[in-house]
Amino acid sequence: MVRDFMKRFLIDTDTATDDALALLMALKSKEVKVEAVTIVAGNVKFEQEVENALYTIELANADYYVPVYEGCKKPILRDLVTAEEVHGKDGMGESYLPKAKQRPEKMHAVNAIIRYAREFQRELTIVALGPLTNLALAITIERELPKLVKELYVMGGSVGKGNITPVAEYNFYVDPEAAKIVLGSKFNLTLIDWELCINYGVIKDKEYEEIKSLKTKGSEFYCKITRVLREHDRKKGLEGMVHADALAMSIAINPGIAERKELRYVDIETQGELTRGMSVVAHISNREANALICYEANHDKFKDILIDALRKTI
Ligand code: BDR
Ligand code: CA
Repeated sequence: MVRDFMKRFLIDTDTATDDALALLMALKSKEVKVEAVTIVAGNVKFEQEVENALYTIELANADYYVPVYEGCKKPILRDLVTAEEVHGKDGMGESYLPKAKQRPEKMHAVNAIIRYAREFQRELTIVALGPLTNLALAITIERELPKLVKELYVMGGSVGKGNITPVAEYNFYVDPEAAKIVLGSKFNLTLIDWELCINYGVIKDKEYEEIKSLKTKGSEFYCKITRVLREHDRKKGLEGMVHADALAMSIAINPGIAERKELRYVDIETQGELTRGMSVVAHISNREANALICYEANHDKFKDILIDALRKTI
């Protein structure tokens, strides 16, 4: 059933650990209807990402059907760079979860993005949690896309430190040309960058224990799929794990979670030898702003949405 106050989400994802948590948060939110999930090449083998999304949807057991569309299997120009060392070979902490019954739809994700945007005319929120390949191609086909969608939330880029190189964040590094196209397309775009995620999107060991003690299917799923990420982030010296996509999703669900936002002009480096995928932010510029960058967020409110979703997954 679609209630009037519901936000309609299309979630574009390279489904692995934090993408799966983000999906669950949206699927369990009373304020959101997930109209479609589209898969893009990124974190792990493409077919595995599709299975991870389908499994998460089955686990969420929403009271409506959530179609999954397969999208681009590689970045526009570059060879794909995956992130198995962060998420595990299967992208889900090496849990090797069973195959879900639901299968992907026949339509290509790029066509699906255009179709949903046209159907819901300025009502659709797109939440992009992976490299921006599908979206960039959708814009190339349908030039009106930025006007057709209500808003676009992007997890990507970094206004500070990078995570894959000193200056670049993974999603923008993997497909910098796609990121450049999307940022240059006049969307109503909110950017959740890596710097925000390490400052406000870390689940600390004490919070992990709180989640573990819920003893729901959701909390068991959480503990399983975060196994490799936990080790990975511990080795990096963090006092917990970063859930970048989950933080982005919490802000898409409740924009008030981002407590300080600034409109800025952002462009993406595609030529540099050391700076591939770097987000270059103009703090003072005569160029028109193209992104609302989130600089501060409320960690507790983010955590509440995550825990609520895991508690409700029974
Ligand atoms: C991003 O990279 C991926 O590994 C995560 O899923 C997230 O979208 C963080 O840089
Ligand atoms: Ca992702």
